Amino acid sequence: MSIEIDVLNGDSSWPRAEPLLQAVWPRHVLEKLPWGHVKWAHADLRVLIDAPEDSPSPGLACHVGVYFRTVTWDGRKVHIGGIGGVSTREDCRGRGYATLALNAAVRTLRDHEAVRFAILFCEPHNEAFYEARGWHRFNGEVYAEQPEGKIRFDAMAPYIFDFTRKPRDGIIDLCGLPW
Ligand SMILES: CC(C)(COP(=O)(O)OP(=O)(O)OC[C@H]1O[C@@H](n2cnc3c(N)ncnc32)[C@H](O)[C@@H]1OP(=O)(O)O)[C@@H](O)C(=O)NCCC(=O)NCCS
Repeated sequence: MSIEIDVLNGDSSWPRAEPLLQAVWPRHVLEKLPWGHVKWAHADLRVLIDAPEDSPSPGLACHVGVYFRTVTWDGRKVHIGGIGGVSTREDCRGRGYATLALNAAVRTLRDHEAVRFAILFCEPHNEAFYEARGWHRFNGEVYAEQPEGKIRFDAMAPYIFDFTRKPRDGIIDLCGLPW
């Protein structure tokens, strides 16, 4: 069975992604999470995977948002990639969709030579999932913009995927909203 993986413009694919993200993080759940009130950046690209047409419930099964940003790491500008909104519809989990979508997202970032490394932010219960997929904990501090101004962004743990740089420590300023 072949699985189609789309990498689409972030804004124009939002109507397709929104119902899945709302199902995975409904408003009443989101409101109770420590990061439920964070204002997030919009994805530049989205990796989308549909369940097969002949499956009991076809339609969007998995989403990964992809971001590009010039940040600073210890005061030096560096162009990086971001991954966010990793989510698989509950009835489609454990089929490898998130792994496929993450791989496609990392490949997409790697195709941009200027991208030195990628960052995602995750909750403690997902850390093992990303560590098993080659992501490394960033032990330094991360700063980001919010409507009230610049904040230390510690709502979730930062994880790095190495390309040409391998940051583990220091200060990363996302120079914009987090993802
Ligand atoms: C985390 C999530 C995206 C995984 O999606 P998925 O499509 O089921 O993932 P895959 O099928 O590619 O991988 C599943 C594998 O990861 C493992 N896994 C899933 N969640 C895990 C976790 N939190 N910690 C460790 N391993 C995990 C599964 O046991 C399975 O292992 P196996 O392949 O050895 O059986 C999905 O559970 C989800 O949408 N969760 C809710 C939203 C969320 O927390 N997103 C992450 C935001 S950072």
